[in-house]
Amino acid sequence: MSNTPDLPWIPARRTAPARAADWVRGFSVGQVAVATPFLLAPMSGVTDTAFRVTVLEASGAASVGLLTTEFLSVELLTSGHMATRMRMAFAPELERPLSVQLFGGDPGRMAEAARHVEAAGAQVVDINCGCPAPKVVRRGGGAELMRDPSHLARLVEAAATAVDIPVTVKLRSGWDDSQRNVVEVAQLAERAGAAMISVHGRSRAQRYAGAPDWDLVDEVARAVRVPVVGSGDLVAAEQALARLRHTQAAGVMIGRAAIMNPWIFGQIQDLIAGRAPRVPGSAARVALVEAFAERLSHTLPEGAIAGRLKQLLARLSKGVPGGGLLRSVALRATTHEALLAHVRAFFEAAELGETARWAETTRLQLERVG
Ligand SMILES: Cc1cc2nc3c(=O)[nH]c(=O)nc-3n(C[C@H](O)[C@H](O)[C@H](O)COP(=O)(O)O)c2cc1C
Repeated sequence: MSNTPDLPWIPARRTAPARAADWVRGFSVGQVAVATPFLLAPMSGVTDTAFRVTVLEASGAASVGLLTTEFLSVELLTSGHMATRMRMAFAPELERPLSVQLFGGDPGRMAEAARHVEAAGAQVVDINCGCPAPKVVRRGGGAELMRDPSHLARLVEAAATAVDIPVTVKLRSGWDDSQRNVVEVAQLAERAGAAMISVHGRSRAQRYAGAPDWDLVDEVARAVRVPVVGSGDLVAAEQALARLRHTQAAGVMIGRAAIMNPWIFGQIQDLIAGRAPRVPGSAARVALVEAFAERLSHTLPEGAIAGRLKQLLARLSKGVPGGGLLRSVALRATTHEALLAHVRAFFEAAELGETARWAETTRLQLERVG
């Protein structure tokens, strides 16, 4: 496999040597070094410390340039809401550099929350300007800020004045098709003090539908001097590298693909080094799910652990022969131990090439239970 594949549907813009190792570079966000340009995207309900550490263990600590938390409400964080404080938890020795993402519409609260983040020891504060959820938008945060760029600039300025660590923003392409103003918003955010700009190339109206606009990511990257990071639909290691090569973006973010394939960042590093990307075997998959469950047990009650494992498994077993049946038995499990037992049985059978036998036995068991 070539280590810098040219995907025909991405127009070539960057003149780059053929070997990825010769052109893949880290960058700086203010004073923070991002050693490799592949970042883990923030995902609410997913990218807590247990998930982030799982990705680092699967891919290798040096394979992710910057980790970002789920988004946290500035109101809840500054009013001492325990669950929100817990969601800011991280493993400081492993998760470096770490960005904590905040959402909210009040500059005073944003500044105060940024100070909390700095005091907690994170390296970067990110302001969410892309969340499409009505409950966030109604309160003047998330994607609503794309409609009010001067207010967005006030929020950035308030946070940037309050802390010494860099403040960054994550934008969408605009509110809807008629207002794709991300270039103008990015320029304003930069002037207000943003040290990095991430762009998910879809509008708020698109939510997650349709194709992300990577040309717009490229346009933003050409319009500002701070690093720009593109996000949207990077599903494979080869594609992430190709996207980086063919835009002026300093980096790219991977979100959903990291749930399906927590090894993806390591696979990118394999490609850069000219190696065949690692393919996790059954034992590695079982070990990953077990370690994830163990980490979740430090922060979540039993009921919530099974839910999070199902979420991971739903994606991890995609495309694996027999994965559909595994998902349906796992969904019925009421404890995380029962769920892990299904995972072990399934992947052990897969290792021995006996998935068909596992499926037959499992179907019989399901019929018996009704
Ligand atoms: C379940 C889920 C939760 C998300 N939560 C956040 C969030 O808290 N903050 C944010 O800026 N973006 C959030 N996003 C958007 C992602 O960061 C990313 O920009 C988007 O999913 C496109 O990238 P992908 O195709 O690699 O997933 C979320 C996306 C998903 C799927």
